[in-house]
Amino acid sequence: MRYLTIALAKGRLAEKTLDLLKDIGITCDEISDKSSRKLIFTNEELKLKFFLAKANDVPTYVEYGAADIGFAGKDTILEEGRKMYEVLDLGLGKCRMCVAGPENAMEKLQHGELIRVATKFPNIAKDYFYNKKHQTVEIIKLNGSIELAPIVGLSEVIVDIVETGSTLRENGLVVLEEICPISARMVVNEVSMKMEQKRIGKMITNLKERIG
Ligand code: PRP
Repeated sequence: MRYLTIALAKGRLAEKTLDLLKDIGITCDEISDKSSRKLIFTNEELKLKFFLAKANDVPTYVEYGAADIGFAGKDTILEEGRKMYEVLDLGLGKCRMCVAGPENAMEKLQHGELIRVATKFPNIAKDYFYNKKHQTVEIIKLNGSIELAPIVGLSEVIVDIVETGSTLRENGLVVLEEICPISARMVVNEVSMKMEQKRIGKMITNLKERIG
């Protein structure tokens, strides 16, 4: 039996995913040791390897088969646009991808004015404005603290994740349009799905049962 490799998105999502995997009997003890700098972890009994990657990179590892299975947010899956199978919605990390800004930006949005959109997700923003809304906008890529952009006058609106809405509220911004719901997904490499159908299929079935 060969090793199956599982890529997890570093951070909160990894912890929640590991809890879920534990419930279906898939454990990896060493991975929870936060003081360790080790990058790859093994469960010899189940012939599984686990690694933690930057969330945005999980789809890349899965498309190229460096990981057979990945767990990542729908936001990164959409943004990266990689070729792989999305097999399961874990229902974890639920939030919404939204267009947000000050209330007065609504008019500009509705009148299709040429506005600037700041975002960590340029591909999602492009797809939404160009393909769905047929609206020409200028997209500005940022790497974090996106809510700053309309406050300091870098852009009229942002495309970003809204979870509780408190970051928007505390900065005088509102949701202007909803793009799509987001949650964590299980993704599988296309070749691995065929070659390891039995083991991966069982994992999907067990997770589905656990999620209910
Ligand atoms: C995310 C997102 C929002 C915030 C939304 O940012 O980009 O800023 O969380 O959460 P809320 O609706 O519950 O306030 P993150 O904490 O990942 O930081 P970053 O923007 O600097 O990447």
